[in-house]
Amino acid sequence: MKDLYEKFAYDYDEFGSIDEYLGDEKTFLNKIFSEHGVKNVLDCACGTGQHIYMLSQSGYNVWGSDYSKSMLEVASKNLEKRNYDIPLNQCDFRFLEQKFDMTFDAIVCLTTALPHLHTDEDLLLALRSMKNRLNKNGLLVLTQGTTQFTLSLPSIEVVVNRPDFSRVFVKEHNDEFQTIHVLDLFHSTERLENNQYDIVYRILLEEDYKSLLSQAGFTNVQIYGDYNMNGYNENSWRLIVVAKA
Ligand SMILES: C[S@@+](CC[C@H](N)C(=O)[O-])C[C@H]1O[C@@H](n2cnc3c(N)ncnc32)[C@H](O)[C@@H]1O
Repeated sequence: MKDLYEKFAYDYDEFGSIDEYLGDEKTFLNKIFSEHGVKNVLDCACGTGQHIYMLSQSGYNVWGSDYSKSMLEVASKNLEKRNYDIPLNQCDFRFLEQKFDMTFDAIVCLTTALPHLHTDEDLLLALRSMKNRLNKNGLLVLTQGTTQFTLSLPSIEVVVNRPDFSRVFVKEHNDEFQTIHVLDLFHSTERLENNQYDIVYRILLEEDYKSLLSQAGFTNVQIYGDYNMNGYNENSWRLIVVAKA
């Protein structure tokens, strides 16, 4: 499998530093985790370590893994700088049991990570692998920005616009896949450069998750449309899935 983040990883945090997570995402995770007595959490698509940092600050015992070695290198530096010593593993989330002997109270796979897999076969492999690494009644949390509503928005989005740097998303989709062309434009005298990364996501909406999660053996599937726990609907900006192993 190709690592789409091999080069992108080193500029990924131009979205905002790992300290700049949304407070309501933190409140949401703390609420559902405290309701279920969660102590040990695996972030199985940890990227540059943003949620590892957030969850560690909230007092959970956190492990991180990701497919991309580059993302893990950036995560490791980010966490080291903030004096957090967190175990990080290079691991494809379709095969978590290859790197993790232990099981967790919760596994998170956040910010449109699962849809990097394109076939039902791979998606089920990943969801079963996550279920297999969860304790009985353990929680799986998946989040994404792709929703019925966001798919209907204009195809060009300026995501970052600073005097020295701009990040633009150009999006296109058909019924099954969404492609995000990420255009990074560095426009200062110190760095004058542009890069393009093309990420293809399988479009997974409410019914797809319900069906896949039930086939993988999960129960109590809840789908929210925001971090205030409002239900998902046709106007939602986010799709947040919580399911029990
Ligand atoms: C959009 S980034 C999100 C990163 C992080 N979760 C966040 O919220 O910032 C998607 C991440 O999923 C990881 N990923 C994609 N496919 C994967 C796989 N099969 N196994 C593990 N990680 C994967 C990528 O390497 C990347 O770090």
